[in-house]
Amino acid sequence: MSEEDLDVKRAQDVVERVLARSKKRAEVSKVPLAKQATSLQSTRGQAENEAGALEREARSGTRRVASLSTEIEDVSEVEYRQLRLERVVLVGIYFFDEEEAQNSLSELAALAETAGSKVLDGFLQRRETPDPATYLGSGKASELARTVSSLGADTVIVDGELAPSQRRALEDVVKVKVVDRTALILDIFAQHAKSREGKAQVELAQLEYLLPRLRGWGESMSRQAGGRVAGGEGIGSRGPGETKIELDRRRIRNRMAKLRREIKHMKSSRDTQRKLRRGANVPSVAIVGYTNAGKSTLLNRITGADVMVQDALFATLDPTVRHAKTPDNRVYTLVDTVGFVRNLPTQLVEAFRSTLEEVAGADLILHVVDAAHPDPLGQVQAVNEVLAEIEGALDIPQLIALNKADLASPEQVALLRSKLANSVAVSALTGAGFDELERVIAEQLPRPNVSVDVVIPYSDGDIVARIHETGEIDLEEYLPTGTHIVGRVTGDLAHELSLVDVS
Ligand code: GTP
Repeated sequence: MSEEDLDVKRAQDVVERVLARSKKRAEVSKVPLAKQATSLQSTRGQAENEAGALEREARSGTRRVASLSTEIEDVSEVEYRQLRLERVVLVGIYFFDEEEAQNSLSELAALAETAGSKVLDGFLQRRETPDPATYLGSGKASELARTVSSLGADTVIVDGELAPSQRRALEDVVKVKVVDRTALILDIFAQHAKSREGKAQVELAQLEYLLPRLRGWGESMSRQAGGRVAGGEGIGSRGPGETKIELDRRRIRNRMAKLRREIKHMKSSRDTQRKLRRGANVPSVAIVGYTNAGKSTLLNRITGADVMVQDALFATLDPTVRHAKTPDNRVYTLVDTVGFVRNLPTQLVEAFRSTLEEVAGADLILHVVDAAHPDPLGQVQAVNEVLAEIEGALDIPQLIALNKADLASPEQVALLRSKLANSVAVSALTGAGFDELERVIAEQLPRPNVSVDVVIPYSDGDIVARIHETGEIDLEEYLPTGTHIVGRVTGDLAHELSLVDVS
């Protein structure tokens, strides 16, 4: 078989794989989103709570809405080109590792569907580096153009980051709009951000992405309109379009500065809240994991809460804090964080660093891994790479929950357990393994370590309540002078107790 034939065969294999996955997902996505979330919840037999339902409704409702502020409506018109992804074809290139490229392309398909598109086809080309002009080689680009036209696709998504000139050149060949992985991820984040801080952070990231590409957008738009106002060099390049781009740039910079100020402000109030939580001596567990690993499902299973679960990437964007209890009745907090992803756009790593700082304050990191994924170890590594960027995160003990054990083969689970120290196999869907998981979490959370034998006056009942939440009690009895407690508490509480003790 010639190299050319091999390429074609590989591409066909990828296409089949991508389409098989997309078919599976298409079945799910035929159900209206609000219904989808509800049915997922109800199969799990969990009570609907009103807040959860509202949250899902709000999120579903924002799925396909342009996200940029009206203050820069001109830019959002341009940006909106990216958001209307309907029928897409995916392309990627690889040099050494074809399997990795295939996984990445499948992930891109899942991302595209999360953004609301229908994936029609996928291509991989083997080449050493991207073509400086059209990203793909010219032959492959023409082949792509034929596929795009025969399938009636309206968008090509490239599994990588495109220079503005590459995007334009490829658009010229394929005759439909072309977007890259970064733009797609930014779009999904924009659809899913819910809190004010999350929205501000995503908008900042989008603007950071857009700013250096503004000339490119302007050119494409003006070319489409048949003009050349904002064209590159030569006659016509300094027309009103150029001035408009300058104006847009300035407005974007101003907007970015304003967003940065707002984010700084919001961050300090979040820091205060976190300090309050820490001050209450409640141990905390941060849940991290690759997107779609099952973090929200696991959080629901442990806390009985009603956090939104979707078979979509990045359903969770804003950290959710819930309370849970160890089997021996100690209270701790569980924080669900944003899903991680390979090649997270740098703008977003920066933007979400502060959100991920929740992780840095935790006593234990619960790293949820999709054990049934084709490349779980690659995902673990991608998560650890992001964690390495958060100061102090790698010093926190990490417990690995090998999730979706119901889907993975026992061999795969055994292999992962042997490679990943401190891991427990679970299924957040069926509940298998949760007794062990909760026992191990309890074991690895910091324990109260100051022994006390005190009598607390009845007027200080709130302190008794806090001992119940954070301490370990060996004896509790009611005396005429107050509640007699023997047990262990945290250092801060021991100090408070020494002030009220009447024994
Ligand atoms: P992001 O919001 O993208 O970070 O996702 P997440 O990690 O919070 O994943 P989520 O809990 O939303 O679950 C993703 C999908 O995996 C959903 O369709 C879940 O029903 C499914 N899922 C989660 N846990 C299990 C499991 O143990 N077994 C099986 N079979 N499916 C699971």
